Amino acid sequence: MNDSTFGRLFVLMILAMTVMTIIIVVLAIFAADDVTTRLDERSDIENTAAVGQRLAPVGEFSSSPSEGAVTPVVAEPVVLTGAEAYASCAACHDAGVAGAPLFADKAGWADRVGQGIETLYTHAIEGFQGSAGYMPAKGGNMSLSDESVKAAVDHMVEAVQ
Ligand code: HEC
Repeated sequence: MNDSTFGRLFVLMILAMTVMTIIIVVLAIFAADDVTTRLDERSDIENTAAVGQRLAPVGEFSSSPSEGAVTPVVAEPVVLTGAEAYASCAACHDAGVAGAPLFADKAGWADRVGQGIETLYTHAIEGFQGSAGYMPAKGGNMSLSDESVKAAVDHMVEAVQ
């Protein structure tokens, strides 16, 4: 190989590598853009909360003997929307299982709504044995927060207004 052939080959290789670099940079810009738009779609508060959750400790050390060595950190209860929380109620209230008043059945709910919303909240959260059947506390889903159960009750009551 003489010098001029080598020179041309060398320039060609440099060109090829430059083109590849440009392609990689463009791809990287696209990929980063995807991540930033996903972050932008969530509000700052949601992003901060999400980061906080990921960084939250799973436990806390306590030196007080009465409390035991490790006390678990109780996470803030998640509040679902009424429609989301109702997923735990649908098994009975969609089909009227075991005497459960049907969703959106005005006649079935009239007397119950008449008791006042606070009574309905208490019955849904703590459970309730009525003449029609047994309503388990939180519909049997104890992972629901009280607020989520209340939202589900609101959702059910709104459906019969
Ligand atoms: C295992 C079946 C079952 C599930 C699951 C269930 N319920 Fe019920 N629920 C009942 C039955 C049965 C009654 C009727 C009790 C009666 O009046 O005799 C009832 C009644 C109620 C009432 C009326 C109480 C009153 O004072 O009249 C509310 C409010 C209610 N349920 C809310 C909920 C909510 C909210 C959920 C989900 C978080 C849920 N239920 C899940 C069976 C269920």
